[in-house]
Parts: sequence; C-alpha cells; structure tokens
Amino acid sequence: MCGIVGYLGPNPAFPILIEGLKRLEYRGYDSAGIATLEDGGALRVEKKQGKVVELTNHIGEHHPQGTVGIGHTRWATHGPPSDVNSHPHCGAQGRIALIHNGIIENYEALKELLTHRGHKLVSDTDTEVLAHLIEEVQLRSGLDLPDAVRVALKEVVGAYAIVVLDREHPDRLIAARKSSPLVIGVGEGREFYVGSDATPIVAHTKNVIYLDDEEVATMHRNGDLKIRTIGDVAVTPEIHAIELEMASLEKGGYDHFMLKEIYEQPRSIRDSIRGRVQLQSGDVHMSGIAEYWDVWNSAQRILILGCGTSWHAGLVAEYLFESLARIPVEVEYASEFRYRKPIVRDSDVVIAISQSGETADTLAAIRLAKDQGAHVFGVCNVVGSSIARETHAGAYTHAGPEIGVASTKAFTAQVAVLTAMAIHLGRKLGHLDDRTHMRLLTELDNIPDLVKRVLDKAEATEAIAREFATADNALYLGRGYQFPVALEGALKLKEISYIHAEGYPAAEMKHGPIALIDENMPVIFIATHDEVYDKVVSNIQEVKARGGRILAIVTEGDTHARKLADHVLEVPRCHEALAPLLTVLPMQLLSYHIALLRGCNVDQPRNLAKSVTGEGRNPVNLGWFSTPCVWDVENVVSLHLANGAFLAPRKP
Ligand code: AGP
Repeated sequence: MCGIVGYLGPNPAFPILIEGLKRLEYRGYDSAGIATLEDGGALRVEKKQGKVVELTNHIGEHHPQGTVGIGHTRWATHGPPSDVNSHPHCGAQGRIALIHNGIIENYEALKELLTHRGHKLVSDTDTEVLAHLIEEVQLRSGLDLPDAVRVALKEVVGAYAIVVLDREHPDRLIAARKSSPLVIGVGEGREFYVGSDATPIVAHTKNVIYLDDEEVATMHRNGDLKIRTIGDVAVTPEIHAIELEMASLEKGGYDHFMLKEIYEQPRSIRDSIRGRVQLQSGDVHMSGIAEYWDVWNSAQRILILGCGTSWHAGLVAEYLFESLARIPVEVEYASEFRYRKPIVRDSDVVIAISQSGETADTLAAIRLAKDQGAHVFGVCNVVGSSIARETHAGAYTHAGPEIGVASTKAFTAQVAVLTAMAIHLGRKLGHLDDRTHMRLLTELDNIPDLVKRVLDKAEATEAIAREFATADNALYLGRGYQFPVALEGALKLKEISYIHAEGYPAAEMKHGPIALIDENMPVIFIATHDEVYDKVVSNIQEVKARGGRILAIVTEGDTHARKLADHVLEVPRCHEALAPLLTVLPMQLLSYHIALLRGCNVDQPRNLAKSVTGEGRNPVNLGWFSTPCVWDVENVVSLHLANGAFLAPRKP
C-alpha cells in the first residue's frame, strides 16, 4: 500500500530518499514526505499531498543536508490524502519521526488513551498514534528507543512496517515489521538502506536482510546492526545477495512500465519455463513438486488461492489441472476464503498465487490452510517475499520486477508455470499419453515465439482502441479456457481506463447480461479454435443481432467469427490449453491504448496500488514452519538470490 525508505550513513540522505521514493511510487502515490536529522540535531520534516515531484517542488533548492533520514509515499487508508495526513508523523515532543506501511487496527483505543494523557494528535491517521505511543513509553519508562519501540509495538494490533528517526540519537535508525514487507540493505561503507522492497536499495547495494514478522532492527552509524524480536529475543541477521539489475527497473525506452512489461513477455515466459520444460528428457522438472511427490500423488483436491489477476491465473489453472491431470480443483478469492471458515483437509494441496508475495489476504489464507494441515505450494514472483517464505514449497515465476500496477507479464508467467505443473502432474499421474504429453511440452516451449509474433503485429490494436476509447461500458466474453481470460481482459480495462467492464462466460449472456447490448456496448469475444468455438460463434450471432459492436480475438486463418465481427485481432494456432497465454495479449494492449487515449495514468492508475499489503487483523498466529521449504530454482537465469539455494528452515 505505501512505500517506505530509510538511509543512515556518511552521505546526504535527501537524494537517496527521493530516488528511493520515486522507485516505490508504484506502491502508493497520493502523498509523500521525508524527515532528516540536520546538523545541530534539528529534525526537518517535509511532506506534501501528491506525487514525489510535488514534494521536491515544495522543498525547492534548500535541500536537507542530514546524513540520516526516512521517506514515505502514501496510499491512504486512514484520513484523506492531505499535507497533514502525509508521513512522516512526529510524537508530542517532536523528538521522533516515524513512517509506516500497514494498518494499526486498535489505533482508536490507543488514540483515546494518549489523548487522555494529554497528547494532541493533529492528523486522521493511525500512524501518528504510533509516534505518540513510542514517545509516551520513552517518557514514562526512560527506556532506550529500540526497547521503547518494542514495548509500544506490543500494544499494537494490525500490520506494520515502520522506520523511526530519533532527534536524540542521530547515529541510529530503528525499523520493525509485522505482515508488511521490509528489507534492509547493508552498504559497503558503514551505511544502511531501508525499503518496502529491494527496488530503492539495489542501486546502492546487493546485500540485503529480509526482516521477519515481529522483529525490530537497530542500525548504527558505526556499521553495527542488532535485531531482536518484539519478545526481546536476539536474532542473527541473514544477509542475502540479490541479483536485481537496475536496468530491469528502468523503462528501457518504452513510454510506460506497463508497455515495457507487455513486450517483455517473450523473455519472461521463456525464463519461467527455462530449466523446467526439458524437451530432451521429454519432461518437466520442478523440485518444489519432486520434494513432496507423495503429497501431490495422494492429493484429493487442489485449492487455489489468490486475488485479482492472480486469481484469474488460478482460474486458468483450474481448467488445466482438471483436464490434463484429472485432479478436482477449487479456486478461491483469498479474501473470502480467510473468513469463510472453509473446510480444508490434510489431503488437500493448496496453490497460493501472488506476484508481489505480500498480498495480505493471500498470506492470511495461506496461514489458515497450513494451520488446517494442508500442504501449501506458492507461485510467486518476488524472491524472499513473505509468501515465498511462509509456503512449504513453490516455484518462482522469474518475470522480473513488475512496476506497472496493472499486472501483465506476471500473469502470463504464472500461467506458464501452472501449465508446466499441470502437464507434469498429468504425466506423472498417468493421464497424458506420450504423444499428447510431448505435443503439450513442445508447444509450451514454443509459446514465447508465438507471443513475440502477436506483439510484432500489435499496431492493429491501437486503431481498434480508438473505436472503443469513448465507451462507458464493455463486455468481455469467452468460454472454457478463455472465460478467465475474459475476466482478466475486463479487469485490465477497468484498472487503467476506468471504463466499467465485465467478463462473463459467453453462454451466460442469455441469462441476463444480453439486456445490456446495444450499439454503444463494445463486446470483446475470445473466439479461438477450440472445442467450444462453434458455441462462441453462435453467441457472437446473438450479440450481433442486437447491434453490439464486436471485437473478436480469433485464430489466424479464422473465417466464421471474423465475418460476424466489426473488428478482428488474430493469434497463432496452438493447443487450447495454451491459448490463454496468447489471447490475453490483445486484451493487455487494448486496455493500454484505450487508457492512453483517455489520458489516464497507465502505470499509476487512481485509487490502486501494486501490492495490497494491508488488511484487518490476521486471525491465525504466525507459527514458524517446521518442515524444510523447497522452492525449485532450476532455471538460474534471473534469480534474485545469487546462491540459488532457498531460505533454510527457520529456527523458532
Ligand atoms: C492486477 O493488475 C492488480 N494489480 C491486482 O488485481 C493484483 O493482481 C492483486 O492485487 C494480487 O496481487 P498479487 O499477485 O501481488 O498477490
């Protein structure tokens, strides 16, 4: 939801903080602020509603010179975007400044207590309560700041990643987390960097520490770093080397990150199946499955968990696993699953899908499933993320950093990995004969080239986008494997163009939505050649008969659907199980061009953030996992963890 950065070292903090905030702006961008400790010990706090550029304009030429500082870019949860609600927030004495990502659930109770003790809080935020609470503990207990932070956090219910600056101690920076992500970068010289993820850190160092839940880190100017749990237990820091290249964080000559990420898909899909799809041996190799084959072999059901686009990838996987591996699958919105008191059996295998690896609902759903004895396998794009560390095993999607808020390459990378898994299980469980198995493997291995072919002829999408850019509504229709793609296409259009769009199983039209059809309603059909093609063609006729404006995504060489449609976009022929990897591409491009034509901010759409790390109280305890966690690292192309080995089992 929000982006936080921090710096302690020999250099002026200001440029490092601002650069870091710009890199994290995809997480939240309705207001920004920084705080530094200037010579003479003055605490300088600058904050402004709007993007980071509004903050730098507000600060002007007179840049802070302090060599310790914190910065924040906000996605409002408590209190509307405004200067006073922007972070950092200070305590009553103005001694400490604090930035926060997450939600303090019991902030009203704490606020009442503090107000009762004479504290005057000036903002609507939950975060300001924390700054006052820490100062209150310091004042009343005389505890040193790290201990005061620990004691104060014991009173807090909710999710947080915080960084605290103390005017009395310019040689220290304190950071702590619970549920919200936080990474510490260890610099060459005696310097430390803090970030919500590695993106504001990699320009400075590749050595990082992933702070775990309920840990408090004290960074010292002399290079010393101490980590203790909220329960006051010492923790030995574990430094990891990340291989995130700066180039992957730049736009690489594209106007927007979203467009760059759409055109990266031939590479990101290739990297997600590299080392896993092995044509020579005619097999799929995934150690995350191999290590737990007994579990998969006896699985009675697969439960898939995710949110948003990841949920749509899960829906494609339902079709894949049921038709290729003949295992019953249920796909769950993680936010519903976690509160629905679901029935989970230890014979279930749970697949949790998440690009960021930090989505709070998915994390909580994972903990609930683990608590009920299910084996949880993660499909995730960020190495070292909470979901990667809390699942029993998993597979990384190797799509590289996804900066555009609207997910594109992460979706196709997720579907590519899930397709490889379904082919593998179908084979191992004896449901795929040699010929079908080899055809699927060969075609999957060839998908990156077909994706390139679709993207090379994308200019047609722009012309069609001009046709639809003034629409107020749109309908996306597909059947079978293409139903989830219709949902994903509608989500992309909603997210970045703010046009109200809905995805539907094409046959459902007659049961209501067809009432919406008139000459103003764009209808996007996915009508590729597969078992239900003829059914889709008749659905197109039903819409045509009511004057709908039809765009059909068809297979190259199609003849029927194209005759009925007003506009056609083609994708190459392939096995129906693999077609979602192609048909989603015109959807992504169409929404991109329509949003552009409507003057929308494609990379940072209104009201959205890249990773939804906030939610209410997590009902289940954390509980360190005891069984070894195995994530396959077959393909070592763009692993962020240099050594390939994945986090060893954690010592409780
Ligand atoms: C998709 O474009 C959105 N950014 C959003 O729906 C996203 O897919 C959802 O928040 C899940 O995020 P995750 O994959 O990082 O868990």
